[in-house]
Amino acid sequence: MKKGFIFDLDGVIVDTAKYHYLAWKKLANELGFEFTKEQNELFKGVSRKRCLEILLEIGKREATQKEFDTWMVEKNVDYLKYIENMDASEILPDVTKVLSFLKEQNIPIALGSASKNAQPILEKVGLLHYFDAIVDGNNVTKAKPDPEVFLLAAKQLGVNAADCVVFEDAVAGVEAANAAKMISIGIGDQKILSEAVHNFNDFTEISTDFIQELIDK
Ligand code: G6P
Ligand code: MG
Repeated sequence: MKKGFIFDLDGVIVDTAKYHYLAWKKLANELGFEFTKEQNELFKGVSRKRCLEILLEIGKREATQKEFDTWMVEKNVDYLKYIENMDASEILPDVTKVLSFLKEQNIPIALGSASKNAQPILEKVGLLHYFDAIVDGNNVTKAKPDPEVFLLAAKQLGVNAADCVVFEDAVAGVEAANAAKMISIGIGDQKILSEAVHNFNDFTEISTDFIQELIDK
């Protein structure tokens, strides 16, 4: 059966979590409270809107609809400044090795991300041409752990869900991949991503032999 490979963006292809963190921390500080790196873990794979709701819960802040909308925009304006100068040097180690290996074998590749900034980031780091489909925060209505983003990616690739492999760094993302009945591969701390079918700390631990096995399965 034809296989498809789906990549999350933030934390899998590039380490943008640090820029999301800086932008949320700036907003929290302006609103008069702290926001820690540990708390930022809760934001991985989570939509911008839900992140702001969680941030306000952390700071015990109420917001009018107008304030909420203003802060959503402010966070993104700051985030865009942080990512403005991103380039290929920010691609996480050995991601390109895996993308190239898949491309050489004509295996369809999709992006499955909650971010509404996914496409410009792929352009900045020069990886856009690897992707046959891009499904991101602009195309989905239900956030991870709902499988919508990955099911739509599989559909766009023309591959059965059960024949897709998903690389994810977020618990919600691994849950979404599992809910889609795809083969989930956790990238990061195995203790946090224990629900994944396979676990690796990063792509340097993933051999092309292993990718070939997944293709041949
Ligand atoms: C990814 C990140 C989240 C982020 C979300 C939305 O899933 O892991 O931390 O909140 O995308 O990103 P955006 O770029 O649309 O604000
Ligand atoms: Mg991620």
